[in-house]
Amino acid sequence: MIFNFKTLYDGDTCGHFGQYGGRFAPKGIFSFQTSYDGDRNGHFGQYGGRFAPEMLIPALEELENVYIRAKKDREFEREFMSYLTGFAGRPTPLTFAANLTRRLGGAKIYLKNEGLNLSGAHKITHCIGQAMLAKRMGKKRLIAETGAGQHGKAVATVAAKFGFECTVYMGERDIERQRPNVFWMQRLGAKVKPVSFGTKTLKDATNAALKDWITNVHDSHYLLGSTVGPHPFPSINRDFQSVVGMEVEEQVKKIEGKLPNYLIACVGGGSNSMGLFYRFLDKKSVRLVGVEAGGRGVSKKGGHAVRFSGGKKGVVEGYKSVFLQDRYGNLSPTHSVSAGLDYPGIGPQLAHLKNEGRVQFTYATDREVLAAFSLLAKTEGIICALESAHAVAFALKLAPTLSKNKIIVVNLSGAGDKDIFIIAEALKDKEWIEFLKGKSHL
Ligand SMILES: Cc1ncc(COP(=O)(O)O)c(C=O)c1O
Repeated sequence: MIFNFKTLYDGDTCGHFGQYGGRFAPKGIFSFQTSYDGDRNGHFGQYGGRFAPEMLIPALEELENVYIRAKKDREFEREFMSYLTGFAGRPTPLTFAANLTRRLGGAKIYLKNEGLNLSGAHKITHCIGQAMLAKRMGKKRLIAETGAGQHGKAVATVAAKFGFECTVYMGERDIERQRPNVFWMQRLGAKVKPVSFGTKTLKDATNAALKDWITNVHDSHYLLGSTVGPHPFPSINRDFQSVVGMEVEEQVKKIEGKLPNYLIACVGGGSNSMGLFYRFLDKKSVRLVGVEAGGRGVSKKGGHAVRFSGGKKGVVEGYKSVFLQDRYGNLSPTHSVSAGLDYPGIGPQLAHLKNEGRVQFTYATDREVLAAFSLLAKTEGIICALESAHAVAFALKLAPTLSKNKIIVVNLSGAGDKDIFIIAEALKDKEWIEFLKGKSHL
């Protein structure tokens, strides 16, 4: 009688009781390695390293040591995984884009829908990981920079959840472009500090955040938002985000019984692309493509953010990589319809992977991106972020050139809700503009 007794509150057959329970067996996220990992000091070939002001070195060393210890601690991985599933909403689905595939008449297209994560993008994943490290370091406050606002919103989310104070720096131009995310960051309890110098975009917000960190390093953790910055940030964020590729591998094998032929992701600093690619770096049959922001076209100076068209090696913001810069080594202005890709630098491991020929790079222009965004929405019912639409734009070109037995996975790094103002303006939506005018009394 003991073993056949049941109640309404018994949960499912996998031991989930509502949002709790389950089996979070460590999956080896933090023990996984590839032949492209560089050395112990964060050098990836000729890129990477730690070029930080003297005052930040102890904080970077502390972060590195805490991370090295956490990596060996099975409890850390178990706890990380339980936040991802019980809080962030992982795993995100891998959706077969049947209509788009039929329309293009070539390779099968699958969409990894990271937009379904809590706070609307992949960024929450490395924010949870870093918040856990900040707790272990006894920090009380999180500092962050943000471009599209997705990273800032994710930092504000974990600050609320884990009980940190939170300050997010954002360029005035990005605040204008991504107002909904500013509103939500504030509702989550974060202070959003506008940055009014330079081009008023992500690179300036990064400088402001670094300045704050130098002043408040004793009690604050700088929660850097991509696979950029001084060592150990590029490796830490890559490892946390590698859960994306790990899920894709499991999902695609389950559905198709084999590995995909192509993985495509947009590339700002590199967190969503490295996250998708990392588990596949040594699986040479899988081709990896990063899509940069072609903006108004690569021939337009300051009109794009294609680091691999005109970018040069340099040391900026604490790391060595490829940057769009002027002849004095100052960062050049960039442009993209998507704030999250509007950045002159790229993660050092991606720069290395480009040199090694392991990741191919291409770009999509603003016009191609808006067309890809609209087509995806109307054929698949998914409103993706403008950043992610860069990856979709390349998939639209690639799929018809491949046979029907080939498989493409496109990373939809985020949801497009945040882009409502930009898209409405770009598509000249008169009804929406009238609606906004009607609200002007507020
Ligand atoms: C939805 C989305 N995708 C992509 C990016 C680009 O960043 P990363 O290259 O680090 O993934 C951003 C940055 O804000 C973003 O918000």
